[in-house]
Amino acid sequence: MATKKKSVAKKKPTDSTVKVALLGFGTVGSSVAQVLAASKFPGVELTHIFNRSVERKRSSAAAKAVPASVVWTENIEDVLKSNVDVVVELMGGLNPVEGWLRKALSSGKSVVTANKQLIAYRGANLARLAASNNVHLAYGAAVAGGVPVIPGMLQGLGGDQVTRLSGIVNGTCNYILSRMESGADYATVLADAQQLGYAEADPSADVDGFDARAKLCILSRIALHAELDPDAVLTQTISTIEAIDFTYAKELNCTIRQISRAQREGTVVHARVAPMLVPLSSPLAWSHGTQNMVVSSGRFGGDVVFSGHGAGGEPTAVAVVSDLLAVAQNCRTVQLPVRKRSVTGEFMAPHYLRFVVDDKPGIVSSIAGALAKVGANIDSLLQRPGHPKHRLPFVVTTEPCLTSTVEKAIASIAKLDCMLERPLCLQILVPEDKPQ
Ligand SMILES: NC(=O)c1ccc[n+]([C@@H]2O[C@H](COP(=O)([O-])OP(=O)(O)OC[C@H]3O[C@@H](n4cnc5c(N)ncnc54)[C@H](OP(=O)(O)O)[C@@H]3O)[C@@H](O)[C@H]2O)c1
Repeated sequence: MATKKKSVAKKKPTDSTVKVALLGFGTVGSSVAQVLAASKFPGVELTHIFNRSVERKRSSAAAKAVPASVVWTENIEDVLKSNVDVVVELMGGLNPVEGWLRKALSSGKSVVTANKQLIAYRGANLARLAASNNVHLAYGAAVAGGVPVIPGMLQGLGGDQVTRLSGIVNGTCNYILSRMESGADYATVLADAQQLGYAEADPSADVDGFDARAKLCILSRIALHAELDPDAVLTQTISTIEAIDFTYAKELNCTIRQISRAQREGTVVHARVAPMLVPLSSPLAWSHGTQNMVVSSGRFGGDVVFSGHGAGGEPTAVAVVSDLLAVAQNCRTVQLPVRKRSVTGEFMAPHYLRFVVDDKPGIVSSIAGALAKVGANIDSLLQRPGHPKHRLPFVVTTEPCLTSTVEKAIASIAKLDCMLERPLCLQILVPEDKPQ
């Protein structure tokens, strides 16, 4: 069937007004409507809002900013069969969103989305579909919300060879860990985060690293030109971090953050999302609360730091509307070839190992023996006074070695009778870390 394609990409900027449909009128969608109403950008007109149970949305306070001419609908076909030029998707998830956006792109509508899961898992396919239909797919809000990491990397760093990325891309984890830095315990801070709306009732996607992993994969595609399978990227939960870890981290001139890191070596990408010790001298240690930060290192341009509000309706809406304006003005982004790459979680790094033991003579020599057996050298041993001997937390740091090497030693140390908890193993992020 021949479809007449009317695409933004084929329009000249001075053509008629670009018509926009919003899919999803939640936190970000309603903020996008408010930003559009407040700024009245020439050449852009919001014509449709789609949401389930739409009357509930239409009568909400946020809807007051929406022009009376807008069609509110709970039937997606009203959008897909309409003459809108750009579909702005702010619902989230893979299904049914992917199918709807494929239909939109196939019928010549450009798409703007903030959906990190969709872009991490289906971005390459959707980008091909957009290109073959001569329309745009923009997702600048999918990583770090209001911080222009994606457009900055695409446009501003396209000329460099970015070799590594390390970032804080999950505001919930950063809120939790930066509050724990001041002495609060994990459970209390998580409960506060849930009350403030920073964390979901089921916080797993954030605290176990899956949200950050999707963002790391998007960043790897853009900056390292590497297509990764998100499910192959190792994640480690922050829920095993305790207040005592911040005390020991401080003695090592470090703090703890959830770090998403990726580094390209030939045809392999080393990638991991985990709580890590970060030197206090690193910009990553200065990021507090829900702030996001990404540091990219380029062969020619050196380090570049992106930082700001990683979430929230208005900051994210700014990123969405900026994408929308770029699409409406037919701005092409830099396109560089992207290759599928295999991924490993292996890094050569110093490691922080925290043990909680029922103290008995010979424990340290057993631990040292297990580490020596795998070839890992101890760098320091820290033990704070004031803890009961029957529940004694202490720390060993290693010289740089492979994470898998330390994990082998941990597996045997964990079996010692005196171990009250599974030992905690964290990478220590240092600038000269080398993947293996
Ligand atoms: N919030 C942020 O700070 C932020 C930052 C960066 C990126 N993002 C991304 O932006 C997107 C939107 O996030 P949000 O925080 O605005 O989410 P939200 O507040 O939950 O809003 C989603 C909206 O979409 C509607 N919706 C969801 N599934 C639907 C379906 N199948 N059919 C019809 N309507 C549906 C929801 O309706 P109901 O009210 O009925 O549930 C709700 O109004 C997500 O992809 C998210 O990852 C958000």
